[in-house]
Amino acid sequence: MVPKISTLSGYLHEYQKSVANPIGFWSNIAESFHWRKKWDEVLKWDFNSPNVEWFKGGKLNITENIFERHLFSRYDQVALVWEPNDPSEKHREYTYGELFSEVKSFANVLRSHAVRKGDRVAIYLPMVPELVIAMLACARIGAIHSVIFAGFSANAIAERVEDASAKIMITSDGGYRGNKILNLKDTVDEALKSCTSVQSNIVVKRTNQDVAWKNDFDYWWHDEVDKVMDEAPAEILDAEDPLFILYTSGSTGKPKGVLHTTGGYMVYSAYTFKNVFQYSSGDIYFCAADIGWITGHSYIVYGPLLEGATTVMFEGIPSFPNPGRYWDIIKKHDVNQFYTSPTAIRSLMAEGQQWIEDVEMPSLRVLGTVGEPINEEAWHWYHDHVGGNKCPIVDTWWQTETGGIMISPIAGVIPTKPAFASLPLPGIQPVIVDNEGNKLCGKSVEGNLCVQFPWPGIARTLWGDHERYIDSYFNQYKGLYFTGDGVKRDEDGYYRILGRMDDVINVSGHRLGTAEIENAINEHPLVSESAVIGYPHEIKGKGIYAYVVCNDIPSDSGEELKNSIRKGVSKMISPIARPDKILFVQDLPKTRSGKIMRRILRKIAEHNEDYGDTSTLTNPDIVNDIVKAAKLLK
Ligand code: WT7
Repeated sequence: MVPKISTLSGYLHEYQKSVANPIGFWSNIAESFHWRKKWDEVLKWDFNSPNVEWFKGGKLNITENIFERHLFSRYDQVALVWEPNDPSEKHREYTYGELFSEVKSFANVLRSHAVRKGDRVAIYLPMVPELVIAMLACARIGAIHSVIFAGFSANAIAERVEDASAKIMITSDGGYRGNKILNLKDTVDEALKSCTSVQSNIVVKRTNQDVAWKNDFDYWWHDEVDKVMDEAPAEILDAEDPLFILYTSGSTGKPKGVLHTTGGYMVYSAYTFKNVFQYSSGDIYFCAADIGWITGHSYIVYGPLLEGATTVMFEGIPSFPNPGRYWDIIKKHDVNQFYTSPTAIRSLMAEGQQWIEDVEMPSLRVLGTVGEPINEEAWHWYHDHVGGNKCPIVDTWWQTETGGIMISPIAGVIPTKPAFASLPLPGIQPVIVDNEGNKLCGKSVEGNLCVQFPWPGIARTLWGDHERYIDSYFNQYKGLYFTGDGVKRDEDGYYRILGRMDDVINVSGHRLGTAEIENAINEHPLVSESAVIGYPHEIKGKGIYAYVVCNDIPSDSGEELKNSIRKGVSKMISPIARPDKILFVQDLPKTRSGKIMRRILRKIAEHNEDYGDTSTLTNPDIVNDIVKAAKLLK
């Protein structure tokens, strides 16, 4: 098990050690794991090429570290608690022994479908235990999983499957989400029409709904598992062999296939999980994220299971069957650590006190948030009403690309401040730079958040596109990893994340590229051009505001056209990318080089009339027209 910091002086000591001697610091943590062969070199790096390798020459399998490593002591301990969408359905529990056996069986299923080390496996599943089993089965045989969030459309699936040339798809007949049923298999069927790489589709039975079936291509999960044994030796991998790809949005149109490798990700997800949440043996830990995002990968699956934790996964949504659902789950399973997003907190806060006031949650010790800045009001509500004033809040800042938490309080160890992610974890060296790349030293500064030294969880590349990796993270400021976020450091050295500085909008903690949404809007036959920006939204943090130029602006309110544009975006990307507000305009404010001045569009959306310098616009008059129209928009 990885070492755990338990005092503030312990943190300060570890932090100093990690900066003075990163090699010694991380190799000591890596020693806690089971390596088939020790590494030859702890770290090789260069942020200019850039290239990062951790524990090079080390041989291991991450599932041996989840299962075999603590099987004697944990065989009968519950590893995974699965809470279904509908509370009247029975929840399921898997001990480490049972989960191991399921993982090995499914590993054999994958092998029987000719999946080998290095092959990509696309997984499009709702929050069912088979999702965890499928991921770990891939890891068992050295296949690279690419989990696609079950809210994505057929088009978005196809784009991701093709980019990774996935050999196998794993999906389900359908999925439950509140009182809705998602037709996952139909969506996958549609997506796979255009994907030539996929050779078979393995289907979990969840909803029992009728689905179309293609013999010798579609296979039921349960039939396949029946045909195999549950002994499956682990493929022994290099520390730098890929573990998974996870697609995320960038500032240009195409999603980025963020690649994480085996050894470094293992060390980093386990270390940060154990320390940030102060997990102790026997605790019940519940992260309410979806495994389709990095939070679920690192803090439902890998981090907790590597540390021998009991991890709760929830199939449903916080408002079903009523807004007290999270609190019921916490009570029912005696949850000790709870991790969710500011959007979920704000939406539950808006439902009123009645759902929480009578609920006692004596088991709760630590509360976490992630994904977007948390406002002070939501922080206090979480602290007072959910945590009963006794649970520290860990506001954890990190990214798909960082693999694990970077800046966050360590629960009960680092004093918290509302809306501050607080201090960097050991091993993390953040720097703040101005727009010219000058490091802003000292306290009370504000600028662009970068990291100047590698940590084991950093993404190694973007799948099939190392150039774009360089471009996205290392080209802005020489020798630094740029996060895309703005940040403020206060007089105590505490970090407060201000949000994205690039063309990415963080909607309910989901990261969406403006270009991706614009491309989808522009597909509409009546649209000639569009510009999308984020604007402050009470619940979602940021809402999506689309300025749309049409060939013929509708003479009425244009509701019909708006709906059809929204439908198009859902179809191209996902319902989460649907614009909240659509404003039809004659033209967009552009510079002489044809660049859209988004700064002005953001100001208009915020009803802030200080537009700054508009003299560089080719069409300055358009600003007034847009302002007038925006005032009329509800
Ligand atoms: C972006 C990364 C990390 C898992 C979920 C999102 C924003 C993340 C915080 C926080 C303020 C945060 C940043 C970051 N973000 N955590 N605690 N406070 N902002 O992962 O989809 O890769 O998005 O989420 O803007 O860059 P992601």
